[in-house]
Amino acid sequence: MFRWHSPGIGVSATISDADIESYVWFKDRNGFEAAQRIACMSVTIVGSQLGDEGKGALVDLWGGEADVVSRYQGGDNAGHTVVENGEEYKLSLVPSGAIRNKIGVLGNGCVVNLDTLFDEIDTLRDRGIDPEVRIARRAHVIMPYHRVLDGIEEDAKSDSDLDAGTTGRGIGPTYEDKAGRRGIRVGDLLDRSTLRERLEYVVPQKRALAEKVFDIDVGAQFDTDVLFDKYAGIGERLREESMTVNAGKFLNDCLGSGKNILFEGAQGTSIDIDHGIYPYVTSSNPTAGGAATGTGIGPTVIGQGEVVGIIKSYLSRVGTGPLPTELIDQDEPLADAIRERGSEFGTVTGRPRRIGWLDMPMLRHAQRANGFTGIAVNHIDVLAELETIKVGHSYELDGETRMTMPATTERWNECEPVYRTFDPWPDVSWSDVGEAGYSSLPSNAQAYLEYIAAELDTSLYAIGVGPDRADTVELTNPFDR
Ligand code: GDP
Ligand code: IMO
Ligand code: MG
Repeated sequence: MFRWHSPGIGVSATISDADIESYVWFKDRNGFEAAQRIACMSVTIVGSQLGDEGKGALVDLWGGEADVVSRYQGGDNAGHTVVENGEEYKLSLVPSGAIRNKIGVLGNGCVVNLDTLFDEIDTLRDRGIDPEVRIARRAHVIMPYHRVLDGIEEDAKSDSDLDAGTTGRGIGPTYEDKAGRRGIRVGDLLDRSTLRERLEYVVPQKRALAEKVFDIDVGAQFDTDVLFDKYAGIGERLREESMTVNAGKFLNDCLGSGKNILFEGAQGTSIDIDHGIYPYVTSSNPTAGGAATGTGIGPTVIGQGEVVGIIKSYLSRVGTGPLPTELIDQDEPLADAIRERGSEFGTVTGRPRRIGWLDMPMLRHAQRANGFTGIAVNHIDVLAELETIKVGHSYELDGETRMTMPATTERWNECEPVYRTFDPWPDVSWSDVGEAGYSSLPSNAQAYLEYIAAELDTSLYAIGVGPDRADTVELTNPFDR
Protein backbone atom coordinates (compact mmCIF):
# COMPACT_ATOMS: atom_id res chain seq x y z
CA MET A 1 0.00 0.00 0.00
CA PHE A 2 1.51 3.33 -1.05
CA ARG A 3 0.43 6.85 -0.53
CA TRP A 4 -0.59 8.29 -3.87
CA HIS A 5 1.32 11.37 -4.79
CA SER A 6 -0.96 13.37 -6.98
CA PRO A 7 -2.54 16.72 -6.08
CA GLY A 8 -6.23 16.55 -5.38
CA ILE A 9 -6.44 12.77 -5.02
CA GLY A 10 -4.71 12.05 -1.73
CA VAL A 11 -5.80 8.47 -1.25
CA SER A 12 -3.84 5.32 -0.61
CA ALA A 13 -3.72 2.85 -3.42
CA THR A 14 -2.49 -0.64 -4.05
CA ILE A 15 -0.55 -1.11 -7.22
CA SER A 16 -0.38 -4.57 -8.70
CA ASP A 17 2.89 -6.15 -9.84
CA ALA A 18 1.62 -6.11 -13.41
CA ASP A 19 1.17 -2.33 -13.26
CA ILE A 20 4.39 -1.54 -11.45
CA GLU A 21 6.26 -0.40 -14.54
CA SER A 22 3.67 2.28 -15.19
CA TYR A 23 4.81 4.21 -12.09
CA VAL A 24 7.72 6.34 -10.99
CA TRP A 25 8.69 6.00 -7.33
CA PHE A 26 10.04 8.65 -5.02
CA LYS A 27 9.76 10.05 -1.49
CA ASP A 28 7.32 12.92 -1.14
CA ARG A 29 8.07 16.02 0.93
CA ASN A 30 6.81 14.32 4.10
CA GLY A 31 9.12 11.40 3.55
CA PHE A 32 6.36 8.98 2.50
CA GLU A 33 6.97 6.44 -0.22
CA ALA A 34 5.03 7.82 -3.17
CA ALA A 35 4.14 6.78 -6.66
CA GLN A 36 3.00 8.65 -9.68
CA ARG A 37 1.62 7.02 -12.77
CA ILE A 38 3.76 7.82 -15.77
CA ALA A 39 0.95 7.81 -18.30
CA CYS A 40 -1.69 10.51 -18.09
CA MET A 41 -4.81 9.40 -16.23
CA SER A 42 -7.48 11.75 -17.44
CA VAL A 43 -8.37 12.91 -20.90
CA THR A 44 -11.11 15.48 -21.35
CA ILE A 45 -12.84 15.70 -24.72
CA VAL A 46 -14.38 19.10 -25.47
CA GLY A 47 -16.38 20.40 -28.42
CA SER A 48 -14.58 23.46 -29.83
CA GLN A 49 -17.42 24.95 -31.83
CA LEU A 50 -21.20 24.59 -31.86
CA GLY A 51 -21.64 20.91 -30.99
CA ASP A 52 -21.68 17.89 -33.34
CA GLU A 53 -17.94 18.15 -34.04
CA GLY A 54 -17.63 14.36 -33.91
CA LYS A 55 -16.80 14.05 -30.20
CA GLY A 56 -18.40 10.59 -29.99
CA ALA A 57 -15.97 9.23 -32.59
CA LEU A 58 -12.91 10.36 -30.60
CA VAL A 59 -14.36 9.24 -27.26
CA ASP A 60 -14.81 5.86 -28.87
CA LEU A 61 -11.31 5.85 -30.35
CA TRP A 62 -9.50 6.82 -27.17
CA GLY A 63 -12.05 5.11 -24.92
CA GLY A 64 -10.14 1.94 -25.74
CA GLU A 65 -7.49 3.00 -23.21
CA ALA A 66 -9.94 4.32 -20.62
CA ASP A 67 -11.43 2.31 -17.79
CA VAL A 68 -14.26 4.74 -17.18
CA VAL A 69 -15.97 7.27 -19.46
CA SER A 70 -17.80 10.07 -17.68
CA ARG A 71 -20.17 12.72 -19.01
CA TYR A 72 -19.95 15.94 -16.98
CA GLN A 73 -22.78 18.12 -18.31
CA GLY A 74 -25.80 18.24 -20.57
CA GLY A 75 -28.38 15.55 -20.97
CA ASP A 76 -30.24 13.93 -23.84
CA ASN A 77 -29.81 17.07 -25.93
CA ALA A 78 -26.52 15.41 -26.90
CA GLY A 79 -26.38 13.01 -29.80
CA HIS A 80 -23.00 11.31 -30.07
CA THR A 81 -22.31 8.93 -32.91
CA VAL A 82 -19.99 5.95 -32.79
CA VAL A 83 -19.40 3.80 -35.85
CA GLU A 84 -17.61 0.50 -35.37
CA ASN A 85 -17.06 -1.63 -38.47
CA GLY A 86 -19.99 0.01 -40.23
CA GLU A 87 -22.32 -0.47 -37.25
CA GLU A 88 -23.68 2.92 -36.15
CA TYR A 89 -24.69 3.81 -32.60
CA LYS A 90 -26.34 7.13 -31.65
CA LEU A 91 -25.96 7.87 -27.96
CA SER A 92 -27.69 10.60 -26.01
CA LEU A 93 -27.05 9.74 -22.40
CA VAL A 94 -25.11 6.50 -22.20
CA PRO A 95 -21.46 7.61 -22.39
CA SER A 96 -19.84 6.68 -25.71
CA GLY A 97 -17.36 4.33 -24.01
CA ALA A 98 -20.24 1.81 -23.79
CA ILE A 99 -19.41 0.48 -27.25
CA ARG A 100 -16.01 -0.48 -25.81
CA ASN A 101 -17.65 -1.98 -22.69
CA LYS A 102 -16.31 0.73 -20.42
CA ILE A 103 -18.06 1.81 -17.22
CA GLY A 104 -20.10 4.94 -17.97
CA VAL A 105 -20.73 7.64 -15.37
CA LEU A 106 -23.20 10.51 -15.58
CA GLY A 107 -21.68 13.17 -13.36
CA ASN A 108 -23.42 15.64 -11.07
CA GLY A 109 -23.28 18.28 -13.80
CA CYS A 110 -25.61 16.25 -16.02
CA VAL A 111 -29.38 16.51 -16.20
CA VAL A 112 -30.91 13.11 -16.65
CA ASN A 113 -34.13 12.01 -18.28
CA LEU A 114 -34.40 8.56 -16.78
CA ASP A 115 -36.98 7.33 -19.30
CA THR A 116 -34.58 8.15 -22.13
CA LEU A 117 -31.69 6.56 -20.28
CA PHE A 118 -33.53 3.29 -19.64
CA ASP A 119 -34.77 3.21 -23.27
CA GLU A 120 -31.25 3.77 -24.53
CA ILE A 121 -29.84 1.03 -22.31
CA ASP A 122 -32.59 -1.36 -23.47
CA THR A 123 -31.93 -0.53 -27.14
CA LEU A 124 -28.22 -1.17 -26.68
CA ARG A 125 -28.97 -4.47 -24.92
CA ASP A 126 -31.10 -5.51 -27.90
CA ARG A 127 -28.02 -4.89 -30.02
CA GLY A 128 -25.82 -7.05 -27.83
CA ILE A 129 -24.17 -4.33 -25.76
CA ASP A 130 -24.79 -4.30 -22.01
CA PRO A 131 -23.70 -0.90 -20.77
CA GLU A 132 -22.71 -0.46 -17.15
CA VAL A 133 -23.95 3.01 -16.23
CA ARG A 134 -23.64 4.80 -12.89
CA ILE A 135 -25.47 8.04 -12.18
CA ALA A 136 -24.40 10.72 -9.73
CA ARG A 137 -26.82 11.09 -6.87
CA ARG A 138 -26.18 14.82 -7.20
CA ALA A 139 -27.28 14.92 -10.85
CA HIS A 140 -30.61 16.62 -11.53
CA VAL A 141 -33.62 14.85 -12.97
CA ILE A 142 -35.39 16.15 -16.06
CA MET A 143 -39.06 15.91 -15.08
CA PRO A 144 -41.93 15.71 -17.58
CA TYR A 145 -42.93 19.30 -16.78
CA HIS A 146 -39.47 20.51 -17.80
CA ARG A 147 -39.97 19.21 -21.31
CA VAL A 148 -43.39 20.86 -21.57
CA LEU A 149 -42.01 24.17 -20.30
CA ASP A 150 -39.06 24.00 -22.72
CA GLY A 151 -41.51 23.85 -25.63
CA ILE A 152 -43.86 26.59 -24.47
CA GLU A 153 -41.07 28.96 -23.54
CA GLU A 154 -39.40 28.53 -26.92
CA ASP A 155 -42.75 29.30 -28.60
CA ALA A 156 -43.17 32.39 -26.47
CA LYS A 157 -39.64 33.60 -27.29
CA SER A 158 -39.93 32.99 -31.02
CA ASP A 159 -41.98 36.18 -31.49
CA SER A 160 -38.90 38.20 -30.54
CA ASP A 161 -36.29 35.92 -32.16
CA LEU A 162 -34.92 34.96 -28.73
CA ASP A 163 -35.65 31.24 -29.08
CA ALA A 164 -32.45 29.19 -29.13
CA GLY A 165 -33.94 26.43 -31.28
CA THR A 166 -33.57 24.04 -28.35
CA THR A 167 -33.74 20.30 -28.68
CA GLY A 168 -36.96 20.40 -26.64
CA ARG A 169 -35.59 17.97 -24.09
CA GLY A 170 -36.25 20.16 -21.03
CA ILE A 171 -32.58 20.99 -20.53
CA GLY A 172 -32.90 24.73 -19.80
CA PRO A 173 -35.86 24.44 -17.40
CA THR A 174 -34.06 21.68 -15.44
CA TYR A 175 -30.87 23.72 -15.02
CA GLU A 176 -33.05 26.70 -14.10
CA ASP A 177 -34.56 24.69 -11.25
CA LYS A 178 -31.11 23.49 -10.21
CA ALA A 179 -29.90 27.08 -9.89
CA GLY A 180 -33.20 28.07 -8.26
CA ARG A 181 -32.66 25.35 -5.64
CA ARG A 182 -35.97 23.70 -6.44
CA GLY A 183 -34.69 20.83 -8.56
CA ILE A 184 -35.18 17.11 -7.98
CA ARG A 185 -31.90 15.23 -7.73
CA VAL A 186 -31.30 11.58 -8.55
CA GLY A 187 -30.56 10.96 -4.86
CA ASP A 188 -34.01 12.33 -3.96
CA LEU A 189 -35.65 9.49 -5.88
CA LEU A 190 -34.15 7.02 -3.43
CA ASP A 191 -35.96 8.53 -0.45
CA ARG A 192 -39.75 8.62 -0.70
CA SER A 193 -40.31 11.29 1.94
CA THR A 194 -37.73 13.65 0.40
CA LEU A 195 -39.19 13.08 -3.05
CA ARG A 196 -42.72 13.78 -1.81
CA GLU A 197 -41.62 16.95 -0.04
CA ARG A 198 -39.73 18.29 -3.07
CA LEU A 199 -42.57 17.55 -5.47
CA GLU A 200 -45.15 19.13 -3.21
CA TYR A 201 -43.13 22.33 -3.21
CA VAL A 202 -42.26 22.55 -6.88
CA VAL A 203 -45.12 21.03 -8.89
CA PRO A 204 -47.81 23.58 -7.92
CA GLN A 205 -45.40 26.36 -8.95
CA LYS A 206 -44.81 24.77 -12.35
CA ARG A 207 -48.52 24.24 -12.77
CA ALA A 208 -49.26 27.86 -11.99
CA LEU A 209 -46.53 28.97 -14.41
CA ALA A 210 -47.97 26.87 -17.23
CA GLU A 211 -51.58 27.78 -16.58
CA LYS A 212 -51.37 31.41 -15.46
CA VAL A 213 -48.36 32.74 -17.38
CA PHE A 214 -48.46 30.65 -20.54
CA ASP A 215 -52.18 29.94 -20.48
CA ILE A 216 -52.01 26.24 -21.35
CA ASP A 217 -54.00 23.29 -20.07
CA VAL A 218 -51.76 20.93 -18.19
CA GLY A 219 -52.07 17.20 -17.60
CA ALA A 220 -50.37 14.40 -15.73
CA GLN A 221 -46.95 15.97 -16.27
CA PHE A 222 -47.95 18.52 -13.62
CA ASP A 223 -49.71 16.19 -11.16
CA THR A 224 -47.85 15.65 -7.89
CA ASP A 225 -49.37 12.23 -7.15
CA VAL A 226 -48.77 10.87 -10.63
CA LEU A 227 -45.19 12.13 -10.59
CA PHE A 228 -44.57 10.76 -7.12
CA ASP A 229 -45.70 7.25 -8.09
CA LYS A 230 -43.65 7.25 -11.26
CA TYR A 231 -40.43 8.63 -9.80
CA ALA A 232 -40.57 6.62 -6.56
CA GLY A 233 -40.80 3.57 -8.85
CA ILE A 234 -37.81 4.76 -10.86
CA GLY A 235 -35.93 5.26 -7.57
CA GLU A 236 -36.58 1.59 -6.74
CA ARG A 237 -35.22 0.46 -10.07
CA LEU A 238 -32.13 2.62 -9.58
CA ARG A 239 -31.58 1.11 -6.16
CA GLU A 240 -32.23 -2.48 -7.27
CA GLU A 241 -29.77 -2.11 -10.13
CA SER A 242 -27.22 -0.25 -7.91
CA MET A 243 -27.04 2.47 -10.53
CA THR A 244 -26.43 5.52 -8.36
CA VAL A 245 -23.09 6.64 -6.95
CA ASN A 246 -21.42 9.46 -5.15
CA ALA A 247 -19.74 10.30 -8.46
CA GLY A 248 -16.89 12.44 -7.12
CA LYS A 249 -15.86 9.70 -4.72
CA PHE A 250 -16.38 6.94 -7.27
CA LEU A 251 -14.22 8.68 -9.88
CA ASN A 252 -11.58 9.71 -7.35
CA ASP A 253 -11.32 6.12 -6.16
CA CYS A 254 -10.92 5.00 -9.77
CA LEU A 255 -8.06 7.43 -10.25
CA GLY A 256 -6.58 6.38 -6.92
CA SER A 257 -6.44 2.78 -8.06
CA GLY A 258 -4.66 3.74 -11.27
CA LYS A 259 -7.63 3.70 -13.63
CA ASN A 260 -7.80 5.94 -16.69
CA ILE A 261 -10.79 8.25 -16.97
CA LEU A 262 -12.05 9.86 -20.12
CA PHE A 263 -14.35 12.85 -19.62
CA GLU A 264 -16.84 13.16 -22.47
CA GLY A 265 -17.98 16.71 -23.07
CA ALA A 266 -21.29 17.28 -24.80
CA GLN A 267 -22.26 20.31 -26.92
CA GLY A 268 -19.46 22.79 -27.64
CA THR A 269 -17.65 25.89 -26.42
CA SER A 270 -19.66 28.38 -28.45
CA ILE A 271 -22.92 27.11 -26.98
CA ASP A 272 -21.53 27.12 -23.40
CA ILE A 273 -23.81 29.11 -21.07
CA ASP A 274 -20.88 31.35 -20.00
CA HIS A 275 -18.51 31.33 -22.96
CA GLY A 276 -20.94 30.88 -25.81
CA ILE A 277 -23.19 33.03 -27.95
CA TYR A 278 -25.72 33.80 -25.23
CA PRO A 279 -28.74 33.51 -25.35
CA TYR A 280 -28.48 31.03 -28.26
CA VAL A 281 -26.72 28.55 -26.00
CA THR A 282 -27.35 25.46 -23.97
CA SER A 283 -27.65 25.78 -20.20
CA SER A 284 -24.46 24.08 -19.03
CA ASN A 285 -20.66 24.35 -19.27
CA PRO A 286 -19.26 22.10 -22.01
CA THR A 287 -15.89 23.83 -21.54
CA ALA A 288 -13.12 21.93 -19.76
CA GLY A 289 -13.77 23.54 -16.36
CA GLY A 290 -17.13 21.77 -16.43
CA ALA A 291 -15.30 18.45 -16.18
CA ALA A 292 -14.25 19.42 -12.65
CA THR A 293 -17.47 21.00 -11.39
CA GLY A 294 -19.58 18.43 -13.22
CA THR A 295 -17.92 15.38 -11.67
CA GLY A 296 -16.34 16.32 -8.37
CA ILE A 297 -12.76 15.82 -9.57
CA GLY A 298 -10.44 18.69 -8.70
CA PRO A 299 -9.41 21.08 -11.49
CA THR A 300 -5.77 20.32 -10.69
CA VAL A 301 -6.38 16.70 -11.64
CA ILE A 302 -8.18 17.58 -14.86
CA GLY A 303 -5.39 20.05 -15.63
CA GLN A 304 -2.69 17.45 -15.08
CA GLY A 305 -4.29 15.37 -17.77
CA GLU A 306 -4.97 16.11 -21.41
CA VAL A 307 -7.70 18.40 -22.73
CA VAL A 308 -8.45 17.68 -26.37
CA GLY A 309 -10.50 20.07 -28.50
CA ILE A 310 -12.62 18.43 -31.17
CA ILE A 311 -12.97 20.52 -34.30
CA LYS A 312 -15.14 20.04 -37.36
CA SER A 313 -13.28 21.28 -40.43
CA TYR A 314 -16.22 23.60 -41.23
CA LEU A 315 -19.13 24.81 -39.09
CA SER A 316 -22.50 23.21 -38.56
CA ARG A 317 -25.25 24.62 -36.40
CA VAL A 318 -28.63 23.22 -35.41
CA GLY A 319 -29.91 26.20 -33.45
CA THR A 320 -30.75 29.83 -34.10
CA GLY A 321 -28.69 33.02 -33.74
CA PRO A 322 -25.97 34.71 -35.79
CA LEU A 323 -23.28 32.80 -37.70
CA PRO A 324 -20.85 35.17 -39.47
CA THR A 325 -19.26 32.55 -41.74
CA GLU A 326 -22.58 30.93 -42.67
CA LEU A 327 -22.95 29.80 -46.28
CA ILE A 328 -26.13 31.55 -47.38
CA ASP A 329 -27.62 33.32 -50.44
CA GLN A 330 -25.38 32.62 -53.45
CA ASP A 331 -23.40 30.09 -51.34
CA GLU A 332 -26.50 28.04 -50.55
CA PRO A 333 -25.66 25.32 -53.16
CA LEU A 334 -22.27 24.91 -51.50
CA ALA A 335 -23.97 24.52 -48.11
CA ASP A 336 -26.31 21.92 -49.64
CA ALA A 337 -23.35 19.97 -51.03
CA ILE A 338 -21.53 19.94 -47.67
CA ARG A 339 -24.75 19.12 -45.82
CA GLU A 340 -25.44 16.12 -48.06
CA ARG A 341 -21.91 14.86 -48.07
CA GLY A 342 -21.46 15.29 -44.32
CA SER A 343 -25.00 14.02 -43.50
CA GLU A 344 -25.54 17.25 -41.60
CA PHE A 345 -28.94 16.55 -40.10
CA GLY A 346 -29.37 16.71 -36.31
CA THR A 347 -28.78 13.42 -34.48
CA VAL A 348 -31.40 14.31 -31.86
CA THR A 349 -34.00 16.24 -33.85
CA GLY A 350 -33.27 15.41 -37.50
CA ARG A 351 -33.18 19.14 -38.37
CA PRO A 352 -30.97 20.13 -41.33
CA ARG A 353 -27.89 21.79 -39.88
CA ARG A 354 -26.84 25.28 -40.99
CA ILE A 355 -23.38 25.24 -42.61
CA GLY A 356 -20.51 27.73 -42.50
CA TRP A 357 -16.79 27.99 -43.16
CA LEU A 358 -14.38 27.29 -40.32
CA ASP A 359 -14.23 30.28 -37.98
CA MET A 360 -10.71 30.77 -36.54
CA PRO A 361 -11.64 33.53 -34.05
CA MET A 362 -14.18 31.07 -32.61
CA LEU A 363 -11.44 28.47 -32.29
CA ARG A 364 -8.95 30.87 -30.71
CA HIS A 365 -11.65 31.70 -28.17
CA ALA A 366 -12.13 27.95 -27.54
CA GLN A 367 -8.39 27.44 -27.12
CA ARG A 368 -8.28 30.20 -24.50
CA ALA A 369 -11.36 28.99 -22.62
CA ASN A 370 -10.28 25.34 -22.54
CA GLY A 371 -6.48 25.31 -22.69
CA PHE A 372 -6.29 22.49 -25.21
CA THR A 373 -3.24 20.28 -25.01
CA GLY A 374 -4.12 18.92 -28.44
CA ILE A 375 -6.82 18.89 -31.11
CA ALA A 376 -8.60 16.44 -33.36
CA VAL A 377 -9.94 17.76 -36.67
CA ASN A 378 -12.82 15.83 -38.22
CA HIS A 379 -14.68 15.73 -41.55
CA ILE A 380 -11.65 16.39 -43.75
CA ASP A 381 -13.22 13.97 -46.26
CA VAL A 382 -16.38 16.10 -46.48
CA LEU A 383 -14.53 19.11 -47.89
CA ALA A 384 -12.89 17.07 -50.68
CA GLU A 385 -13.50 18.18 -54.27
CA LEU A 386 -14.84 21.62 -53.41
CA GLU A 387 -13.60 24.23 -55.89
CA THR A 388 -12.14 26.31 -53.16
CA ILE A 389 -12.02 26.16 -49.39
CA LYS A 390 -12.27 29.23 -47.20
CA VAL A 391 -11.58 29.93 -43.57
CA GLY A 392 -12.70 32.96 -41.60
CA HIS A 393 -9.18 33.84 -40.43
CA SER A 394 -10.11 37.02 -38.51
CA TYR A 395 -12.99 39.49 -38.23
CA GLU A 396 -13.33 43.11 -39.11
CA LEU A 397 -15.32 45.09 -36.58
CA ASP A 398 -15.61 48.90 -36.58
CA GLY A 399 -12.67 49.07 -38.99
CA GLU A 400 -10.44 47.02 -36.70
CA THR A 401 -9.10 43.51 -37.07
CA ARG A 402 -10.20 41.07 -34.38
CA MET A 403 -8.58 37.69 -33.85
CA THR A 404 -11.14 36.32 -31.32
CA MET A 405 -14.86 36.61 -30.67
CA PRO A 406 -16.27 39.68 -28.97
CA ALA A 407 -18.02 38.99 -25.66
CA THR A 408 -21.52 39.86 -26.79
CA THR A 409 -23.47 38.02 -29.43
CA GLU A 410 -24.82 41.30 -30.82
CA ARG A 411 -21.26 42.47 -31.52
CA TRP A 412 -20.38 39.05 -32.93
CA ASN A 413 -23.25 39.48 -35.37
CA GLU A 414 -21.59 42.69 -36.60
CA CYS A 415 -18.28 40.95 -37.33
CA GLU A 416 -17.33 40.63 -40.98
CA PRO A 417 -15.16 37.56 -41.57
CA VAL A 418 -11.85 38.15 -43.34
CA TYR A 419 -11.30 34.99 -45.35
CA ARG A 420 -8.20 33.00 -46.28
CA THR A 421 -8.51 30.70 -49.22
CA PHE A 422 -7.04 27.21 -49.28
CA ASP A 423 -6.34 25.02 -52.27
CA PRO A 424 -8.80 22.17 -52.57
CA TRP A 425 -7.95 18.53 -52.17
CA PRO A 426 -9.20 15.60 -54.22
CA ASP A 427 -11.50 12.82 -53.15
CA VAL A 428 -9.43 9.77 -52.34
CA SER A 429 -10.05 6.41 -50.73
CA TRP A 430 -10.47 7.67 -47.19
CA SER A 431 -10.44 4.20 -45.71
CA ASP A 432 -6.99 3.74 -47.25
CA VAL A 433 -5.93 7.03 -45.65
CA GLY A 434 -7.33 5.83 -42.32
CA GLU A 435 -5.11 2.78 -42.61
CA ALA A 436 -1.98 4.34 -44.13
CA GLY A 437 -1.78 7.39 -41.87
CA TYR A 438 -1.01 11.07 -42.06
CA SER A 439 1.48 11.02 -44.93
CA SER A 440 -1.18 9.59 -47.24
CA LEU A 441 -3.49 12.59 -46.72
CA PRO A 442 -3.62 14.88 -49.78
CA SER A 443 -0.95 17.53 -49.31
CA ASN A 444 -3.47 20.39 -49.47
CA ALA A 445 -5.43 18.80 -46.65
CA GLN A 446 -2.20 18.57 -44.65
CA ALA A 447 -1.59 22.29 -45.27
CA TYR A 448 -5.11 23.08 -44.01
CA LEU A 449 -4.61 20.98 -40.86
CA GLU A 450 -1.21 22.44 -40.13
CA TYR A 451 -2.60 25.97 -40.48
CA ILE A 452 -5.27 25.20 -37.84
CA ALA A 453 -2.77 23.67 -35.40
CA ALA A 454 -0.31 26.55 -35.87
CA GLU A 455 -2.99 29.21 -35.35
CA LEU A 456 -4.02 27.52 -32.11
CA ASP A 457 -0.46 26.83 -31.09
CA THR A 458 -1.26 23.25 -30.30
CA SER A 459 -0.68 19.72 -31.59
CA LEU A 460 -2.76 17.67 -33.95
CA TYR A 461 -3.66 14.43 -32.22
CA ALA A 462 -6.08 12.96 -34.75
CA ILE A 463 -7.76 13.60 -38.08
CA GLY A 464 -11.20 12.28 -38.97
CA VAL A 465 -11.59 11.21 -42.59
CA GLY A 466 -14.87 9.33 -42.19
CA PRO A 467 -17.36 8.27 -39.52
CA ASP A 468 -15.95 4.82 -38.71
CA ARG A 469 -13.44 4.18 -35.93
CA ALA A 470 -11.07 2.94 -38.63
CA ASP A 471 -11.43 6.27 -40.49
CA THR A 472 -9.46 8.26 -37.93
CA VAL A 473 -5.80 8.98 -38.48
CA GLU A 474 -4.19 8.98 -35.06
CA LEU A 475 -0.99 10.92 -34.50
CA THR A 476 -1.01 10.88 -30.71
CA ASN A 477 -3.10 8.94 -28.25
CA PRO A 478 -3.51 11.37 -25.32
CA PHE A 479 -3.46 8.50 -22.81
CA ASP A 480 0.06 7.69 -23.95
CA ARG A 481 1.44 11.19 -23.41
P1 GDP B 1 -20.91 14.72 -31.63
O1 GDP B 1 -22.21 15.20 -31.09
O2 GDP B 1 -19.82 15.73 -31.49
O3 GDP B 1 -20.50 13.38 -31.10
O4 GDP B 1 -21.14 14.55 -33.21
P2 GDP B 1 -22.42 13.90 -33.93
O5 GDP B 1 -22.37 12.44 -33.76
O6 GDP B 1 -23.67 14.60 -33.54
O7 GDP B 1 -22.16 14.34 -35.42
C1 GDP B 1 -21.03 13.97 -36.11
C2 GDP B 1 -21.43 13.14 -37.34
O8 GDP B 1 -20.34 13.06 -38.20
C3 GDP B 1 -21.80 11.71 -37.01
O9 GDP B 1 -22.72 11.24 -37.95
C4 GDP B 1 -20.46 10.99 -37.13
O10 GDP B 1 -20.59 9.61 -37.43
C5 GDP B 1 -19.87 11.72 -38.29
N1 GDP B 1 -18.41 11.85 -38.31
C6 GDP B 1 -17.53 11.96 -37.28
N2 GDP B 1 -16.28 12.18 -37.75
C7 GDP B 1 -16.38 12.21 -39.10
C8 GDP B 1 -15.44 12.43 -40.15
O11 GDP B 1 -14.26 12.66 -39.94
N3 GDP B 1 -15.92 12.40 -41.42
C9 GDP B 1 -17.25 12.16 -41.70
N4 GDP B 1 -17.64 12.14 -42.96
N5 GDP B 1 -18.15 11.98 -40.72
C10 GDP B 1 -17.72 12.00 -39.45
P1 IMO C 1 -23.83 17.35 -29.03
O1 IMO C 1 -23.37 16.86 -27.70
C1 IMO C 1 -25.41 20.72 -31.33
C2 IMO C 1 -28.15 23.43 -29.21
C3 IMO C 1 -29.62 23.47 -29.61
C4 IMO C 1 -29.95 24.91 -29.25
C5 IMO C 1 -29.15 25.15 -27.98
C6 IMO C 1 -29.96 24.96 -26.71
O2 IMO C 1 -24.46 16.29 -29.86
O3 IMO C 1 -22.75 18.09 -29.72
P2 IMO C 1 -30.85 22.82 -25.45
O4 IMO C 1 -31.79 21.75 -25.90
O5 IMO C 1 -29.51 22.32 -25.05
O6 IMO C 1 -31.44 23.73 -24.43
O7 IMO C 1 -30.64 23.73 -26.77
O8 IMO C 1 -28.08 24.22 -28.03
N1 IMO C 1 -27.63 22.08 -28.87
C7 IMO C 1 -26.78 21.38 -29.63
N2 IMO C 1 -26.27 21.63 -30.85
N3 IMO C 1 -25.02 19.61 -30.67
C8 IMO C 1 -25.49 19.35 -29.43
O9 IMO C 1 -25.04 18.34 -28.66
C9 IMO C 1 -26.45 20.24 -28.87
N4 IMO C 1 -27.13 20.28 -27.71
C10 IMO C 1 -27.82 21.42 -27.72
O10 IMO C 1 -29.79 23.21 -30.98
O11 IMO C 1 -29.46 25.82 -30.21
MG1 MG D 1 -24.16 15.50 -31.73
